[in-house]
Amino acid sequence: MSCRQSRPLAVCLLTLLTLTAAARAKDPVRAAHAMVVAQEPLAADVGRRVLLDGGNAVDAAVAIGLALAVTHPSAGNLGGGGFMLVRLANGKTTFLDFREAAPEKATRDMYLDAEGNPTKDSIFGWRSSGTPGSVAGFEFAHKKFGSKPWAELVAPALQLARNGFSVSQTLADSFHSSEKMLTADPESKRIFLRDGTQYKAGETFKQPELADTLARIAKGGAKEFYEGETAKRLAAAMAAHGGLVSTRDLAAYKVVERAPLEGNYKQFHIITAPPPSAGGVGVLQMLGILDGTNFESDGPNSVKAVHYEAEAMRRFYADRSEYLADPQFYNVPVKSLLAADYVAWRRRTIDPNHPTPSEYIGPGLQRAQAAHVSWFESSETTHYNVVDAKGNAVAVTYTLNNSFGNGITAPGLGFLLNDEMDDFAAKPGVPNMFGVTGGDANAIEPGKRPLSSMTPTIITKDGKFFMAVGAPGGSRITTGVLQVIVDVLDFHMNPQDAVDLPRFHHQWKPDTLYLQNGFPADTEAALARMGYPIKPISGVARVEAIVMNNGVLEGGTESRLDGKVSGY
Ligand code: GLY
Repeated sequence: MSCRQSRPLAVCLLTLLTLTAAARAKDPVRAAHAMVVAQEPLAADVGRRVLLDGGNAVDAAVAIGLALAVTHPSAGNLGGGGFMLVRLANGKTTFLDFREAAPEKATRDMYLDAEGNPTKDSIFGWRSSGTPGSVAGFEFAHKKFGSKPWAELVAPALQLARNGFSVSQTLADSFHSSEKMLTADPESKRIFLRDGTQYKAGETFKQPELADTLARIAKGGAKEFYEGETAKRLAAAMAAHGGLVSTRDLAAYKVVERAPLEGNYKQFHIITAPPPSAGGVGVLQMLGILDGTNFESDGPNSVKAVHYEAEAMRRFYADRSEYLADPQFYNVPVKSLLAADYVAWRRRTIDPNHPTPSEYIGPGLQRAQAAHVSWFESSETTHYNVVDAKGNAVAVTYTLNNSFGNGITAPGLGFLLNDEMDDFAAKPGVPNMFGVTGGDANAIEPGKRPLSSMTPTIITKDGKFFMAVGAPGGSRITTGVLQVIVDVLDFHMNPQDAVDLPRFHHQWKPDTLYLQNGFPADTEAALARMGYPIKPISGVARVEAIVMNNGVLEGGTESRLDGKVSGY
């Protein structure tokens, strides 16, 4: 760990002590010109190659996304969806929403049994898939911002699928840990489990059917995927197995370009994900609640910092349960949720010395109104960041939802299908796979996009790129991203130290403070004495970050995992 010149000495020493106690310190990777950080090394190197060959950050982001669909099949995908946040060097920003959409035949109660109880059909089986958006998203980004020919950006993924690549221990382990789910589908069993003779690290993994699909996409673009042979074969397989995604759903799929959410925090400008992500509202609201509490005074992961951050999390997740959803179907009260008076009222409800039981905290807008607070001015994954030599920055989070999605591979097409329908509220008030609840706002409707936690975020300082950050991790994405942001902005940590620091999570319900393994025992004991019900957790989002430090790019990806920072 290295203290920056701008870092206050006391905070620096506290950070050093915390890291020494909790994590091995490792320097961030540094680069003078451009940088990629991704969760799989081959895909990160694909991005670096595109940048070295003169491609821009969006070119690299497209090539990385397609490569991850080959090398990181648990989350990288053609059959899922996600978000791309772009900030160009000239300051222009945009947000591409290529989230999966509920098929035309989807209905509000489609996952309830005869007694009205939720079934597992939103997670497993063909009916769990929404209409995929990733291929449309990448093509849209390329058409709008790309500088390299489309086929050139598909080529690295195609070669990796056709010629194969050496299986890493992480990939072998991921096949192994999802063995049960992958075995249930004959095509997945054949491809990913080699029909029962599981891949070992160092063996070559080839995916000829996926290579054929990528070859068609290289030639015919997204039109091929949504209206051509791929679309016909996918829809036929869906129909044969009771799935809902039809040729009409595929042909109708559209990327939605949205204005990112933007807000200020101290001397920084935060650009982040709008609904149907809950993440951007979450990050901005939680930063707003923290601002002015002096939560940072005792250092990162101190009892005071954890208490204030956890209470901010608790309050945001209560709001998330009620007010966040696809803005095309529900009038999401973003302005109210981020209004200064409302955020200040939420902050005032924090007791400095005790946790507030979740039963006393609900979705806040109506309660604040009753309290005469007048703010009314008027919704398994992977993440990567790219910054190019001109200063264009891209943050992408995309997903199949569960690791390997629903575990089903489209026959003859080589790609896995998502189970993103579980991100809807199958039944109001009943927790989904990530334990979060939702209400009517996030109920299933044809064409609607399920509420997401994905939080790709770019931060500027003095009008220039400062940080790109994001993560996979289900409902813990937003809290993981928040923590790495404050670790860098408030605790002045470099991105490697920040992503390696053990994290915590609170999501209102259950009323539990989750502490990542490795959290200092004395802090845990003090938080328990304060009254927090505590449970251990193996991880809180796998955060990846790039930070500009005095003209040098610094990148961090969690040391316990095998992502890669690749720059020049
Ligand atoms: N499927 C995870 C998310 O979108 O939050």
